[in-house]
Amino acid sequence: MNKNYNPILVVDNENSIRQSITKVLERAEYVVLQAENGQKASRIISETPVSLIISDLSMPGIDGMSLLKITKEQFPDIEFIMITGHGTIERAVEAIKSGAYDFITKPFKRVNLLHVVEKALEKYSLTAENRYLRKQLQEIENQKHNFVGNSKKAQEIRNLISRIARTPSNVLVSGESGTGKEVIARLIHSNSERANKPFVAVNCGAISANLIESELFGHVKGAFTGAIRDKEGLFSAAGDGTLFLDEISTIPLNLQVKLLRVLEEHEVMPVGSTKNFPVNARIIAATNRDLQKEVAEKHFREDLFFRLNVIEINIPPLKHRAEDIPLLTTYFINRMNRDLNKNVHGASIEVLHLLQSHDWPGNVRELENVIERAMIFCEGDMIEASHLPSVFSSQSMDTSMSLKDSVAQFERKHISSVLNLTNGDKKEAARLLDLGVSSLYRKITELGLEK
Ligand SMILES: Nc1ncnc2c1ncn2[C@@H]1O[C@H](COP(=O)(O)OP(=O)(O)OP(=O)(O)O)[C@@H](O)[C@H]1O
Ligand SMILES: [Mg+2]
Repeated sequence: MNKNYNPILVVDNENSIRQSITKVLERAEYVVLQAENGQKASRIISETPVSLIISDLSMPGIDGMSLLKITKEQFPDIEFIMITGHGTIERAVEAIKSGAYDFITKPFKRVNLLHVVEKALEKYSLTAENRYLRKQLQEIENQKHNFVGNSKKAQEIRNLISRIARTPSNVLVSGESGTGKEVIARLIHSNSERANKPFVAVNCGAISANLIESELFGHVKGAFTGAIRDKEGLFSAAGDGTLFLDEISTIPLNLQVKLLRVLEEHEVMPVGSTKNFPVNARIIAATNRDLQKEVAEKHFREDLFFRLNVIEINIPPLKHRAEDIPLLTTYFINRMNRDLNKNVHGASIEVLHLLQSHDWPGNVRELENVIERAMIFCEGDMIEASHLPSVFSSQSMDTSMSLKDSVAQFERKHISSVLNLTNGDKKEAARLLDLGVSSLYRKITELGLEK
């Protein structure tokens, strides 16, 4: 915690006590402001940011209790520690009921004071962090943007979406499974002037190759066995709306030719028909394979690739934007509070650390599932490490470890799991880790991973 960002205001009409508290705190490198009465204190907090007030209970004029009430009304996040004399335990309890973090009784020991101060500031930071996340979330939701994330990349994606939503251009969304490709497609649709027209999603990978043409373009009665009546295709069902072609790389080559023609001519010919129908839907395609690689390997037509890829949105895997994890976690907690009728306030710092150092092969969908599970197990108001699936417990943090040792522990675990994944293939592992092969060999020796 950076002590400079958490100024403490000490309020006491007795000079000697105020000075001695200030000295103790300043020696511990806190930034301290002083006020000799409640009036002055309330002026200071309205003019300068203060994280914590330590105030005497009995003072002439505005006393500690009134100052506490004024503070909590105007700045509910400022933490408050009340200094009480002997025989005022009832008033101390009253102070806590009115929102004080704690009280200390005169005369007090230096260590006790520092301990309470540290705890109170910890609480302040946690509340501040939660409030900041909530505010960001509010802003995103207000813009009707539910591609949640505060990483630079997530912001770029949101900006790009608002710039292109109102154009008719085709969009290609790429990213690993569970990264939010469909979220983005729906977002583009809902931010376009087509928002109240249909959004039709079709998973090309889930339709058998011989049916896909008639699914997309429709067919006329008698076109093939089983075509007992005319059937409208998804292109025409999407009308003036948006057609989302998911898993586009699975479309067979012969159909790729036909699809290209549709996109170029803006008209479809149903199977078995001799008549063209106009197509006006906006096309958004998605792929979890590297489509450029598919083109290079001749599995995907280059001309179709360029047609679809007029605007390209690539979503990086979650592990490459771990900054998004706290905000996504808060988002899912809020959403599931509603769905599961719970009142979970957040996740502990330890949980956020664990989530941020996980690999996330299933990306945001996996995170969503982990949070849902945790919410079901969580009985209090915070998600704790014990609510996470067991894969998280082995990498639990040891806070007494030096930074160097815990980095080494993390590297050891991460590298060995990648090596497992590649069945010991070091060249492939180096590629996945974005390391040179020789650096990987050196790491393996350093970390004792030879066996
Ligand atoms: N940035 C995000 N903000 C909020 N929710 C998200 C975000 N990204 C993903 N999700 C959620 O994660 C889940 C998976 O997202 P989505 O279905 O869009 O992924 P996908 O990339 O289409 O995955 P697949 O390739 O497996 O089809 C959904 O429940 C979605 O709501
Ligand atoms: Mg999808």
